[in-house]
Amino acid sequence: MTRVAVFISGGGSNMVSLLEDMARPGHAGRPCVVLSNTASAGGLAKAQAMGVTTAVVDHRPFGGDRAAFEAALDAALAPFEPDLICLAGFMRKLTAGFTDPRAGRMINIHPSLLPKYKGLHTHARALDAGDGVHGCTVHEVTAALDDGPILGQAQVPVLPGDTPDTLAARVLVQEHRLYPAVLRRFAAGDRTPLFLES
Ligand code: GRF
Repeated sequence: MTRVAVFISGGGSNMVSLLEDMARPGHAGRPCVVLSNTASAGGLAKAQAMGVTTAVVDHRPFGGDRAAFEAALDAALAPFEPDLICLAGFMRKLTAGFTDPRAGRMINIHPSLLPKYKGLHTHARALDAGDGVHGCTVHEVTAALDDGPILGQAQVPVLPGDTPDTLAARVLVQEHRLYPAVLRRFAAGDRTPLFLES
């Protein structure tokens, strides 16, 4: 059984999708902890309601000392012995000190068709560029932001009159399809990329 930790910072809608799918038959993964960098993350209560242990490592006391924050993350994770880490709306950058030892064992979902639009405000950037298609990507996490090997993508059309919010909502529906489908493979040791049409 593959022990899966999920990192969140907010509502955790992707986290819920991952936990729901791990509860279905045939999944090699099981959630061992949901961890947030803030106690105010709405996803913590959702994870607890689903019977999953939660942990909080508040990043604020560490200020700009990323290494100290990551040492606290390591300490918080140790008892759960995760085999994989899924970032799901986790809004803190992680340094090579945290990602390198976990190479090949950390994945993330990003709301764009990488390598386009790394970083923030992806939907507004796609609209500003006049793109006809947009979407989301699951990738392996490296120290370079939103840059690791791609494990899956899902596309959505950009429609006339779209705003960043309407486009984000359309992408989020596909995130909730793509991320569980990729984790189901990845937890079983399968890195074959998955491409979904909406
Ligand atoms: C989503 O846009 C996701 O792509 C990004 O964070 C946002 C919120 O995700 N990673 P969630 O609802 O907290 O899972």
